Amino acid sequence: MLAREPPGADRLGAGAFVGALTQVRAAGETAPRMIAPPALRCAGLVKRYGSVVAVNGLDLEVRRGECFGLLGPNGAGKTTTVEILEGLNVPDAGDVEVLGERWQGDGRALRARLGVQLQETKFPDKLTVTEVLTLFRSFYPRGLAVGEVLAVVALEEKAGAYVRTLSGGQKQRLSLAVALVGDPELLFLDEPTTGLDPQSRLQAWEIVEGLKARGRTVLLTTHYMEEAARLCDRVAIVDHGKVIALGTPRELIASLGAEHLIEFSVAEGAAAPGPDVLAALPSVEAVKQDGGSWRLTVREVHRAVPGLLAALAESGAEPTHLQTHHATLEDVFVALTGRKLRDA
Ligand SMILES: Nc1ncnc2c1ncn2[C@@H]1O[C@H](COP(=O)(O)OP(=O)(O)O)[C@@H](O)[C@H]1O
Ligand SMILES: [Mg+2]
Repeated sequence: MLAREPPGADRLGAGAFVGALTQVRAAGETAPRMIAPPALRCAGLVKRYGSVVAVNGLDLEVRRGECFGLLGPNGAGKTTTVEILEGLNVPDAGDVEVLGERWQGDGRALRARLGVQLQETKFPDKLTVTEVLTLFRSFYPRGLAVGEVLAVVALEEKAGAYVRTLSGGQKQRLSLAVALVGDPELLFLDEPTTGLDPQSRLQAWEIVEGLKARGRTVLLTTHYMEEAARLCDRVAIVDHGKVIALGTPRELIASLGAEHLIEFSVAEGAAAPGPDVLAALPSVEAVKQDGGSWRLTVREVHRAVPGLLAALAESGAEPTHLQTHHATLEDVFVALTGRKLRDA
């Protein structure tokens, strides 16, 4: 369905999903149950910029109360997707539902239920932190007191400070405060910690964890796998405008078939053992070669490493580099795409 249809046009029949509650009746049940629609649902989302396909048939469902992550490299289409969900950008195709509603008209009523932290936010330098929050609070019919939201993001000390005097981390927390001031049902955080120093990142994570503990629904985007693994109940791995994997961080890692990775390299021209030999080593589940480097997915490092060293010695190849680590979401991305998240 094209999103640029006139308001009210609805292929699925007059507002199939629209409304806060939907009646369902399971087999054998006499009375219908009332269930809330998911916080977010989109299907077949497409967005092109000239010849660039930024979003390429993306489907997503975010449940109420979960922290859902879109994890993907730069350029994967995460920002374009969230801007469409936020009603700030119009897709070329696809259906979008936010809190059971579709974007139509001026979207004002729906917007008042959302909190949005954009990937980049610029506030006027000559406003104070309190003034910025008072201004944004005035856009919402209901919400938190400015003092309350300052406490959530630990910026009380900066209440009277001018925006221009804030550090990067403090500005980021101010933009988070702006997203929270309307006491939203659904919060969008686009790369909430990109560009932050490690301490500010940790602080931002703690704020998001506090929101989770209070049952907020959060959709966040990130290209940091540690962030997705730590904060998100479920993660969609996005690449080239599509969801290529979906699950809890644990499920995604389990999809590798084993919990550990061994990476090694041999000197150029050295006769390393062949892939069949490596695959037959104890505890090895998968083998991937990239030039002179190998990645082995293994169940037990202490069983695989001795076998690997013996096989290398037998073929006369000296490893120039050998390291092991516990499998991460990065490894899931590499297994799916053959590329790394950060420098993809
Ligand atoms: N306004 C725009 N005009 C042209 N191309 C765009 C625009 N916004 C995004 N793109 C392109 O769309 C693709 C996806 O971008 P984006 O959604 O920002 O990805 P991400 O947030 O995952 O880094 C990129 O190739 C980007 O260059
Ligand atoms: Mg982005």
